[in-house]
Amino acid sequence: MEINKKNYVIENELVRKERVIALLSDLHYTPNMSQDILNSIILDLSAVNPDIICFAGDLINDAKEFGGIRYLIAWLETLSKIAPVCLVKGNHDYLTFDRQAKKWHYYDSNELFAFIADIENVFILEKDKPLFEDEELTISGFDLGKFTEKYYKEHHESNAAFKLYVKPELTNIQGNLDPERLNVLLTHSPRNYFDNLDLKYNILMFGHMHNGAVPSKMLDKIKTNRGIISPHGEIFPRYAHGIVEISENKTGIIASPITTIANKSNHKLVRTLYKPGIQYLNIRKK
Ligand SMILES: [Fe+2]
Repeated sequence: MEINKKNYVIENELVRKERVIALLSDLHYTPNMSQDILNSIILDLSAVNPDIICFAGDLINDAKEFGGIRYLIAWLETLSKIAPVCLVKGNHDYLTFDRQAKKWHYYDSNELFAFIADIENVFILEKDKPLFEDEELTISGFDLGKFTEKYYKEHHESNAAFKLYVKPELTNIQGNLDPERLNVLLTHSPRNYFDNLDLKYNILMFGHMHNGAVPSKMLDKIKTNRGIISPHGEIFPRYAHGIVEISENKTGIIASPITTIANKSNHKLVRTLYKPGIQYLNIRKK
């Protein structure tokens, strides 16, 4: 299966060694998911052989009814043999759909993620600990945990909710950052981050936006980061895909999803319009 592949070069004075981070996001795994989507990701990663693989959330589509865990675990095991895998959770990893009430609500998926955390070379966010460190770079993660339902469903990711649920925690994490190292943040939604630019990270990696539903073939023709519609129905969201140059030493990347329309990854038209995304960040000395 064809991949929607993006290569980005990020130059920074804080690193001497060149390294490649593969950024994946939004698999929205369901038991009926076609194996060729999973395989196409593995094939491309094996060919490029990145130094680190980061996953920006929404690994599963429903935190309670993910099913078929064996295939998902096997896929992550294969990824972990290519490079260390860092993983944060997205809204779908913490929410389940209640068919009677017709709404999403919080569900504790810790049991599933404990299985995943047991895979060698897979690193899942633990409180107050960086996800990954090498000699020059630190990858920190952030997810909303039990506040996921409130932030995404009750407050629809409002700026006020960002100040309440996201900013204090990020300020805390930032307090421990070493400014001499290249600091990377891996989290799910980019919403509100670009309006709060006192953040100290050099590279911010996001998912969640599903390219704003822009078909893969049109992505290169759009000169801005705008999408058509956000996961919450916002029309023409400003930050939906691609690279955002925040300032000289700060860059944001909003990942193209592996699955653009959750639960419809096998649908013929959907497969024609939306190719699974992978982004490669080549990080090197300025
Ligand atoms: Fe998603």
